[in-house]
Amino acid sequence: MKAITFASTNQSKFYEVESILAAKGIRAEFARLNLVEIQTDSLEQIAIEKARSAYALLQRPIIVEDDGLFVSALFGFPGQYSSYVFKTIGNDGILKLLEGKEDRSASFRSLVAYSDDGSNIHLFEGRVAGTISIKIAQGGWGYDPIFVPEGVSLTFAELKSMKNGYSHRKNALEKFAEWLAKDKI
Ligand code: IMP
Repeated sequence: MKAITFASTNQSKFYEVESILAAKGIRAEFARLNLVEIQTDSLEQIAIEKARSAYALLQRPIIVEDDGLFVSALFGFPGQYSSYVFKTIGNDGILKLLEGKEDRSASFRSLVAYSDDGSNIHLFEGRVAGTISIKIAQGGWGYDPIFVPEGVSLTFAELKSMKNGYSHRKNALEKFAEWLAKDKI
């Protein structure tokens, strides 16, 4: 089985990556790295810079991921600021901002960046459309308790291990796995 290092501080994210890639015949190893996120409007640029720093530190084939939650009624906020917004106003704050709004549609984007030489960075994007729930569900991590993917009526948190069947992360990683199988092996 081919092995790839996934660099992140988020172990919950790693468990999802590990399971999604294992189904594609790729073994993911975890490197706990606190990669600096540059301030820019682009998830792509953030993922590219994270991949460069992860490769510089580890000197082996790596993947990193950058995500954003985009809420339509908030003009795409928190988007590329999702991490900061989660740490500050959190899920409670997002629900408060949506009070009285009819449109609760939102989407999650994942940008997976792969590099095996530190200079060529390959990007794979995954998206999932959905809505923001009325209440905060139990369990999950990050925005899992308030994001309901299209096609079901449960939040990512309530979907538990079934989350991987719907997630933005799965869409991005499947593209990566297909590319790797075609171009690299
Ligand atoms: P980051 O790119 O991993 O920093 O993600 C940005 C923010 O979105 C962080 O607060 C994450 O916790 C959150 N996030 C990313 N992916 C998910 C997910 O699959 N479920 C819930 N929250 C997520």
